[in-house]
Amino acid sequence: MAQDYVWYQGIPFPVVDFYPEVIKAAHEELVLKGENIITVTYPKSGTHWVIEVLSLIHSKGDPNWIRSVPTYVRSPWIETASGNRCTVERKEGPPLISSHLPIQLFPKSFFTSKAKMIYVIRNPKDVLISGYYFWRFTNLAKKPESLEQYFEWFLQGHVPYGSWFDHVRGWMSMRKKENMLVLSYEQMKKDPRSMVERICEFLGKALEPGELDLVLENSSFQAMKENKMSNLPCIPEELVPAGFKINRKGIKGDWKNHFTPAQTQAFEETFREKMAGLPPELFSWD
Ligand code: A3P
Repeated sequence: MAQDYVWYQGIPFPVVDFYPEVIKAAHEELVLKGENIITVTYPKSGTHWVIEVLSLIHSKGDPNWIRSVPTYVRSPWIETASGNRCTVERKEGPPLISSHLPIQLFPKSFFTSKAKMIYVIRNPKDVLISGYYFWRFTNLAKKPESLEQYFEWFLQGHVPYGSWFDHVRGWMSMRKKENMLVLSYEQMKKDPRSMVERICEFLGKALEPGELDLVLENSSFQAMKENKMSNLPCIPEELVPAGFKINRKGIKGDWKNHFTPAQTQAFEETFREKMAGLPPELFSWD
């Protein structure tokens, strides 16, 4: 890989499908509309899961759409070149969009629009482990040689999309806005039905009980693992190896199988320092 990252305003981005001028255009020019439904996360927090649920709410549980169209076309990432084009050119279909942008680079138009945003928070220790496997086994950005190395990069924010701590702190300043719904990955795991009900309520959409069951069935971890369209299809094998799955383990607490006691302590110290002042109930993963 010629470059490790694409940099824009001090934030490292993956190299494939990312260009500073596209990120700048997303930030400064992209016009978000009131009808847009936006999924925003720090990578590896459950983005694909929420997009699957939103897609299925749209189709009332019918899996045809999610089984025939890739996640990144159903809900394009506005900061990528292909996603930005897809967003601007889209003429039909539900107005879903996705992003991992930190708040300071997000389209300015959002902040005066009525577009609805869902932000998902996941235990950053699990985000770290999930990210390690993702960046290590794909060729989309700088590859860590070991978990020890990735651990250091993560704490310093030298990973795609920068610091988890800054991302979450930035977006949490918006958490009380009525067009923003904050979900926790761990709560979604514990009670997926309530998660779907909360999303429906937020969007003002009603589902029949049978439709809700279908949404749950078709967005389960296993169903998503088996759905090619939810696991980065149609990407050259030299970038994403054949058989690679976004749906890796889908559990809470996998960090416990990986962190040493010293890493746990170092992580918790950084967490306390960087997240000081935010309400602890935002981070209820244990
Ligand atoms: P793991 O790598 O820990 O398994 P993102 O979509 O933001 O890239 O997040 C990917 C993570 O969400 C992966 O975590 C993946 O397994 C998990 N995930 C995706 N769909 C899920 C589902 N239906 N239920 C639980 N976890 C899911």
